[in-house]
Amino acid sequence: MNEEDLLGSKWNYIYSQTKTEPAQAADVLIENAHLLPETGTALDLACGLGGNAIFLAQQGLAVTAWDISSIAIEWVLAYAKREGLNINACQHNITRLSLPKCSYNIIAVSRFLDRTLSDAIIDALKPGGLLFYQTFTVEKIGRVGPTNPAFLLERNEILRLFSPLAVIFYRENSLCGNLQKGIRNEMQFIGQNID
Ligand SMILES: C[S@@+](CC[C@H](N)C(=O)[O-])C[C@H]1O[C@@H](n2cnc3c(N)ncnc32)[C@H](O)[C@@H]1O
Repeated sequence: MNEEDLLGSKWNYIYSQTKTEPAQAADVLIENAHLLPETGTALDLACGLGGNAIFLAQQGLAVTAWDISSIAIEWVLAYAKREGLNINACQHNITRLSLPKCSYNIIAVSRFLDRTLSDAIIDALKPGGLLFYQTFTVEKIGRVGPTNPAFLLERNEILRLFSPLAVIFYRENSLCGNLQKGIRNEMQFIGQNID
């Protein structure tokens, strides 16, 4: 089995054990939905069960959703069909070459990190397009999320990875203050392509 097949099998196994119910969109998307255009194109990168894709389609956008897990994609497609949502979901191993240039008004990424994709993600945004990103950081305090530091953001790292974008919103509470409050395990970022 090659690396891609192994990764697909790993995630297929996880989704075969998961109770499939309508997935939740990332909070950064829900709480900042007023920033979305009324029409346009959106990409949910590494969509899993499609929480972001479903939310974006419900807001009126034409959504593309990619994930390496065929089980997750079948679930998203069935849900979209049942609910009449405009989601084109495809099983796909995402690489830099996957991303067409200047194609999306919105790109959403949650709980997925591949640092080699950042330039291609920026290039895939249309002028004025927005990137919504939410994922785990090395300073997370809960047991949620990956343990491998390769999949955890360093403090403020997202700002460096996406520095060509103008910052619209950024939240990373780190380990400051009362750890029972605020957002602790993930950071939230919205950047705009102002080129
Ligand atoms: C933690 S899940 C997050 C799913 C979803 N974005 C969410 O927030 O619920 C990570 C997802 O990344 C997908 N994934 C991992 N590596 C991938 C790759 N190389 N290409 C496409 N999808 C990938 C997995 O199948 C999985 O669905």
